[in-house]
Amino acid sequence: MRTQVGIIGAGPSGLLLARLLHLQGIESIIIERQSKEYVLGRIRAGVLEQGMANLLRQAQVGARMDREGLVHGGVNLAFNGRLTRINMAHHTDGQSVIIYGQTELTRDLVEAHLAAGGIIHYEAPAIAVAEYHTTQPRIIYEQNGQRQEIVCDFVAGCDGYHGVARQSVPADKITLFEKIYPFGWLGILSDVPPVNDELIYANHERGFALCSMRSHTRSRYYVQCSLDDDVANWTDNAFWDELRRRLPEEVAEQVTTGPRLEMSIAPLRSFVAEPMRFGNLFLAGDAAHIVPPTGAKGLNLAASDIYYLSRALIAHYQEKRADLLDRYSDAALRRVWKAIRFSWWFTSLMHRFGDDLLNQRLQVAELDYLTGSVAGQTVFAENYVGLPYEQFE
Ligand code: APR
Ligand code: PHB
Repeated sequence: MRTQVGIIGAGPSGLLLARLLHLQGIESIIIERQSKEYVLGRIRAGVLEQGMANLLRQAQVGARMDREGLVHGGVNLAFNGRLTRINMAHHTDGQSVIIYGQTELTRDLVEAHLAAGGIIHYEAPAIAVAEYHTTQPRIIYEQNGQRQEIVCDFVAGCDGYHGVARQSVPADKITLFEKIYPFGWLGILSDVPPVNDELIYANHERGFALCSMRSHTRSRYYVQCSLDDDVANWTDNAFWDELRRRLPEEVAEQVTTGPRLEMSIAPLRSFVAEPMRFGNLFLAGDAAHIVPPTGAKGLNLAASDIYYLSRALIAHYQEKRADLLDRYSDAALRRVWKAIRFSWWFTSLMHRFGDDLLNQRLQVAELDYLTGSVAGQTVFAENYVGLPYEQFE
């Protein structure tokens, strides 16, 4: 089999890339390890920056997002028993974020791509990327127990943190940066109305809590938990009690509780692989970097990578230009590192780190300063709505 761009992974990165290329007449094949049902059933965050929302509209998959997504011009920080709203729109010339679940977004991308005749091979795990330093890189994969191969002009490794694209590169050609945080997030999804119109990030001496949502009738809540905790230790009631203890009283009283649709524990990690290009193999999204979920930057970074990568590939095919391909890794990484920094900082500010009482007081002082200062609110708002994409043409 042969194609122009071979894409490993049918998550948001791979699907968005395939869509943007298809609209410019560039063909691709996506290879995905899991089944379609599995990929569409995964529950992930869902806070879209304006840059990402614009890219989705450009990819002609923004209609349902614009109809059903919730536009948030502010976000709340809770600490010391009170709630403070940061008016993001006010501090960023009217910018906002859109609340729209990654699950829904993935469905829109898959449907649009398949309707346009796009090719996705599900249950087809890639095993390796071969000869990526040549002009004919190959994806080796398995399907129905048979070994298969796709010869490509370029390979896009959009196969997430555990994928094979990054692992196909010799260790001495890649630099890895990693930090694992000493706690996890226990999350519940429940069909109850959200406690607030906007998100609430809470710093509390019992640990961090987050009130989020998927719609006016479906809520997503999280509490910081220990790394060795287990979902089996938590009844629904125990979760709701712990959540309410960590919220300001006037908020806790308003929480509507209900049975779980899902409950899970996620670890928190900061990770970057440099560079993001190896010959004709390009890494994008979680394959190249992971952020802790505080601030919801993971999905948005996948989108900015794809913004740069799609432009670089389109310039190659339409104008025979190699310069954007050469600049891809540096341009993507500049934005990646800023989001890695913001997510690390916001995580450090909001979570309980052991019994360090000095640290707790410092967190509260910083939150007090941040929310009381125009400069502080502006810095937070700019990062939360998303830093701009660089001109890349
Ligand atoms: N062969 C084929 N597919 C693979 C392989 C493989 N060897 N390994 C992994 N995959 C698939 C996974 O099954 C998954 O569907 O690659 C896809 C990667 O998708 P994501 O993990 O969603 O990563 P990405 O598309 O970069 O999106 C990043 O999604 O993971 C969240 O929090 C993350 O929001 C961020 C966004
Ligand atoms: C979520 O809704 O799942 C969510 C929202 C904001 C975050 C992380 C997760 O920072």
